[in-house]
Amino acid sequence: MDFRRTLEAPDQINNRLFRRILLSSVVCGALLSLQACSNADDVTAGSEPTPSITSVTNFWPHRSSPLAQPDAYETNIDALLAQMSVEEKVGQMIQAELQSVTPDDVRNYHLGSILNGGGSYPDGVKDAPVEAWLAIADQFYLASVDQSEGRVAIPLLWGTDAVHGHNNVMGATLFPHNIGLGATRNPELVRAIAKATAREMSVIGQDWNFAPTLAVARNARWGRTYEAYAEEPELLYTYGKAVTEGLQGAIGDDWFGPGRVLATAKHWIADGGTDGGIDRGDAKISERELRDIHAQGYFGALDAGVQSVMASFSSWQGEKLHGHQYLLTDVLKQKLGFDGFIIGDWSGHQIVEGCQPDSCAQAVNAGLDLFMAPEQWRELHANTVAQVKRGEIPMARIDDAVRRILRVKFRAGLFDTVRPSERPYAGHTEWLGAEEHRKLARRAVRESLVLLKNNNGLLPLDPTSHILVAGDGAHHIGKQSGGWSLTWQGTDTTNDDFPGATSIYQGLAQQINAAGGRVQLSEGSDDSELDLSEAIPDVAIVVFGEDPYAEIEGDVTHLGYLSRADLELLRRLQARGIPVVSVFLSGRPMWVNPYLNASDAFVAAWLPGTEGAGIADVLLRNTQGDIQYDFTGKLSFSWPASVNPPPLGSDDEEYAPLFPYGFGLSYADGQELEKLSEESVIDLKNPNEN
Ligand code: GLC
Repeated sequence: MDFRRTLEAPDQINNRLFRRILLSSVVCGALLSLQACSNADDVTAGSEPTPSITSVTNFWPHRSSPLAQPDAYETNIDALLAQMSVEEKVGQMIQAELQSVTPDDVRNYHLGSILNGGGSYPDGVKDAPVEAWLAIADQFYLASVDQSEGRVAIPLLWGTDAVHGHNNVMGATLFPHNIGLGATRNPELVRAIAKATAREMSVIGQDWNFAPTLAVARNARWGRTYEAYAEEPELLYTYGKAVTEGLQGAIGDDWFGPGRVLATAKHWIADGGTDGGIDRGDAKISERELRDIHAQGYFGALDAGVQSVMASFSSWQGEKLHGHQYLLTDVLKQKLGFDGFIIGDWSGHQIVEGCQPDSCAQAVNAGLDLFMAPEQWRELHANTVAQVKRGEIPMARIDDAVRRILRVKFRAGLFDTVRPSERPYAGHTEWLGAEEHRKLARRAVRESLVLLKNNNGLLPLDPTSHILVAGDGAHHIGKQSGGWSLTWQGTDTTNDDFPGATSIYQGLAQQINAAGGRVQLSEGSDDSELDLSEAIPDVAIVVFGEDPYAEIEGDVTHLGYLSRADLELLRRLQARGIPVVSVFLSGRPMWVNPYLNASDAFVAAWLPGTEGAGIADVLLRNTQGDIQYDFTGKLSFSWPASVNPPPLGSDDEEYAPLFPYGFGLSYADGQELEKLSEESVIDLKNPNEN
């Protein structure tokens, strides 16, 4: 049974959304720089322009690059271009994946960059030491600047997804995923996290982060909802700017200083606005929504001088973004003044009509500057060179793409630097998982927590009492970290894979034991492990929720949380008269009415990362009996009242969320939550039969 609701006709959604957008753009115009808002000639409601180049480009705000001063680099770039063969130029436009490329390949094909995808490490070794990362980074770099046989020396960039800390490297600090950072409403915190992440990347010689994701996720069925900060655009401008500056350094003194890396605003555009929340699907939305909802984060990143943008796998109005001339070139480059480069997503060019993994002139002609070509990059190189020689791709387009890539490399200081292992922070392992970073992450965990229920003022808890900590998320670093955590999906890991990390249980136990209390761990969710023979605990904290996932693997058809075992555990504890605090781990807001009813207190903890102690900091009083930290988190995604809500953020009259965007209790709130309906179209007793 497919729970995906048939959406209303687009114009009805658009009108509701239009009212909301109009309000936000008025507010936005008052609060933020004009860049965040459209100061273009507004199009009257209802006359949504058809996406044609002439009539609509005045619909977007005209911007120029904040770095548009006459670049000293342009003359150097002219000189390099004059020396480069077509093969060398096309080499700069191809990025191969670590497992399918060698330093000799970089030398012979003149490749301008490489990447390591989620779960890809030197020699495929998950616990590869810092020295191994640096050694291979040096080899690739030296191959790229090898001038033997008349080659042109152009330093290589190494890109990676450090989307919540340097999450692909063992021992790194993993911060809360973006859905939790959105709940903090704290752009300065997010800036500091980005800076710390860049520093940890520099330890192992990587200089390019495929972050920030600036999606506005309008349907929580999307498997990448947790990579988004919010369902509404209002946070995105400030967050997009803050993260870009945290990674690259702010324009001016900090710009690409020591420990800074290239940022990538992704995925352009409306990756979070697809029909049904289907990953890589089609955003059947108006151009006004593109601009006023999905572009806001990019305005912030562009104002911060972001130097790369990643094209989305998704489509707009049925046309793939990877081949979308209007949105890649006319809007992003010409109208919005983006003068860095556009990189494709993981062989994303192949889904453009008429394209293959090893051949796609259409994408280059539409404005793609750099192919992310994990595997078939050799054939792609050869075919692209041939297409240039046959005139299917104008040399002017190639020169523009390579100019953009070289401009970014000059701006990032690549032509003035040394091999990765000799750069600032390189090899300084004290910065990988540094105490300073872990404290920052622990603070982010505290500020990301959202209190949805606290009946009878159960929280905060007395640490001197007898506390049972239960649930399969209580002592599971992988589950509390989510996707993109050492592996792409965040699965197939053990706690030993996260040295220096603290599970939620460990954080609680440390404080309860220090206070002279008693703590019990019961990770299973059935009675056999629940040894209550000695004494009934004063309270139970049960940590449960979604197992890790990433991208399309996380797409769902409804928002019901369906774990019978977890629900029965909560109900058994309540039946024994034990007050229950639920700590819910999830990458999205979910329908959990039965679990709310079976809990006296309920905390949305999202995906907190390695510093689980942040949860104890808020749930427990200190030894003097005072509140250590109050809840400050506010929902950046409205919480559903049904299994199958309409798209997020809609003004749909029937869309009444259980907890609205912006909701979050603090200890001072004496709100009691009444018993909720448990009616759903899903039979919780036999969830798998739906
Ligand atoms: C993935 C993601 C993108 C990521 C890229 C490289 O498929 O869509 O966000 O940066 O591939 O790992």
